[in-house]
Amino acid sequence: MEQIMRNFFLFLSNNKTLTKVAKKYGFRFGASRFVAGVNIQEAAQKIKALNEKGFVVTVDHLGEFIDSESEAKQSAEECVKAIEVIAKEGLQSELSLKLTSLGLDISHELVMDNMHKILQAGKENDVIVTIDMEDYARLEKTLHIFTSLKQEYDNVGTVLQAYLYRVEEDLEALNPYNPYLRLVKGAYKESEKVAFPNKSDVDKNYKKIIKQNLLNGNYTAVATHDDEIITYTKELEQTYQISKEQFEFQMLYGIRLELQKQLLKEGYKVRVYMPYGDDWFGYNMRRLAERPANVAFVLKGIFKK
Ligand code: FDA
Repeated sequence: MEQIMRNFFLFLSNNKTLTKVAKKYGFRFGASRFVAGVNIQEAAQKIKALNEKGFVVTVDHLGEFIDSESEAKQSAEECVKAIEVIAKEGLQSELSLKLTSLGLDISHELVMDNMHKILQAGKENDVIVTIDMEDYARLEKTLHIFTSLKQEYDNVGTVLQAYLYRVEEDLEALNPYNPYLRLVKGAYKESEKVAFPNKSDVDKNYKKIIKQNLLNGNYTAVATHDDEIITYTKELEQTYQISKEQFEFQMLYGIRLELQKQLLKEGYKVRVYMPYGDDWFGYNMRRLAERPANVAFVLKGIFKK
């Protein structure tokens, strides 16, 4: 049953019509449980509050299925604005983005032009920018864009997904770039041809790449809510005397708050991934796919208004 629910929510997350209707209809259906606000000013208040408690943040302007050049440019302007607000208000926050929201599916020139503007603003304001990893169809392009930008900008990072069979090779191929990598299990519905279908295999592979990246000496963001993976990372820290400066835990805004606080108390760096914007539908559907139990929060949101 859980698998059916998962597939259902992943199917919804990919539905362009529903995404557009939801955007028009407004900030509903429990969106505020996982999304910090509709604009950067609202998000900035939430970042400030988290910073005061000791958390750091990466803020993400939500945007999916961009199909015009003007929307992609608007999305890039929003990213630059977010960087400027982070700098102006002295917030401890990085920026995360998706290349599809900047025109990846429209043209290479467009997405590169947008990335240059964003990374230049990040460089001038000391803000790191992480390129989220999307579905497998866009992996090659995303890695190619990351490696070419990394030669010009120090403030760019990206994400690798443990559910992919090829992830170890990608990790090694990126090693010479001394990358800032966020490691995740992977959130998209992928074919068995490219990704492990079983959770236990994904978990095993996830542990492998965390160890590999830490022992390569690269900064590692372990982005998970999974106790077992967190415990494993702490064990690696002990066994290999890895400095707490070399890694951080990342979790999504609104998820496992007690665990986030506990890690902070134990002296770990904890970064909260904070989405904002009116394009919240696909993001929320992926969170529901991860944990159908979250439907309860969403239903509460509908009735709260
Ligand atoms: P898993 O799903 O196995 O869950 C382990 C336990 O965590 C569960 O038993 C439950 O207790 C808790 N949990 C997990 N999800 C929860 C939820 N939604 N609500 C409440 N509890 C929950 N993916 C991707 O493909 N590209 C990307 O760029 C990113 N970026 C990213 C950034 C950050 C900061 C995070 C935390 C995650 C991502 N992801 C991602 C998503 C990632 O790939 C993955 O889908 C989710 O993190 C869920 O997997 P977990 O590792 O949390 O474990």
